[in-house]
Amino acid sequence: MIPMVDLGKQFAGIREEIMEMMCRILESSHYILGPNVREFEKKIADYLKVAGAIGVASGTDALHLSVEVLGIGEGDEVITTPFTFFATVEAIVYTGAQPVFVDIDEKTFAIDCRKIEEKITRKTKAILPVHLFGHPADMKTVMKIAGKHRLSVVEDCAQAFGAEIEGQKVGGFGNTGCFSFYPSKNLGAYGDGGMITLGRDGSVSDEIRELRNHGSKGSYIHDSVGFNSRLDEIQAGILQIKLKRIDEYNRKRREKAELYSSLLSDAVTCPIEKEGCYHVYNQYTIRSRKRDEIQRRLKEEGISSVVYYPRPLHLQKALSYLGHREGDFPAAEEAAKEVLSLPIYPELEESDIKRIAGIVRKAAG
Ligand SMILES: Cc1ncc(COP(=O)(O)O)c(C=O)c1O
Repeated sequence: MIPMVDLGKQFAGIREEIMEMMCRILESSHYILGPNVREFEKKIADYLKVAGAIGVASGTDALHLSVEVLGIGEGDEVITTPFTFFATVEAIVYTGAQPVFVDIDEKTFAIDCRKIEEKITRKTKAILPVHLFGHPADMKTVMKIAGKHRLSVVEDCAQAFGAEIEGQKVGGFGNTGCFSFYPSKNLGAYGDGGMITLGRDGSVSDEIRELRNHGSKGSYIHDSVGFNSRLDEIQAGILQIKLKRIDEYNRKRREKAELYSSLLSDAVTCPIEKEGCYHVYNQYTIRSRKRDEIQRRLKEEGISSVVYYPRPLHLQKALSYLGHREGDFPAAEEAAKEVLSLPIYPELEESDIKRIAGIVRKAAG
């Protein structure tokens, strides 16, 4: 069996450090929003070179609290992509705002910036691009459009910890950047966790800190109604241990991706890295009209593969009230029919990649 990710292999390499840290935190009797969370927030802000970072309970909450703190709600519109994990759009819907979809760039799977302006109305308040699979969205163009129309920008960085555009890490472009520490992410916890980063402007920091903790400054005085969305000490400790190694983890993912592409580029469409970008390959996603056949053969050989995502968001029943139909976003619909993500993680063996590529080539041939 070759799984999509093998978290056990990674744990084996950091086991002693993790166990020692967990013991220390358990003995401290301080389990939520304590010194480890504060230290981790500072380290993340330094690593990503952002004005601040605030730990929350998940990537979904990071997105939700971001949209909330920007004052977006009923009657407002937020522009985003239909080709992403459902949480991206849930965050918009939770606030009462309406998601407005823009089709994707077929090469990077990110929002197609050429089509954003035609969707801007008087109700538009923000753009929410997603750095899908670890490749950055075109943030230069997103920020230019946002500046021109005075819109906020929330980056969904859940799949792209450490990804860069011309040396600047994602999460530092928009008003906020939203990270997920779900275990299979490039920087993954041993449970749920998330982080909101503040682009160049740290002004909403205090408000987010209150929102994540019942609207309270920690004094049982509530100036607003907030949420319970706190990061715990053990996850913050685990994430600090992994943060020290994240550059190496991402470099190894890139090496695996390079090997896959060298073996597959004449058989299927391989992921690209746009000039100036640093792709961190949370997923290695190929495209082929023979996608289902490739997946069937891989399964027969005991190799995992996953279709991220089989149904674009505009065709999901939960969002049928938006009134979309098939054909509205052809690039997203085409991608949903052709994409297949192959196993990728820092510890994946070269021999496994060669074996997987051999099966893919045969099935695609
Ligand atoms: C693109 C994207 N956005 C948001 C999320 C939500 O993150 P979480 O699972 O931590 O709530 C994910 C996680 O899978 C994701 O992939």
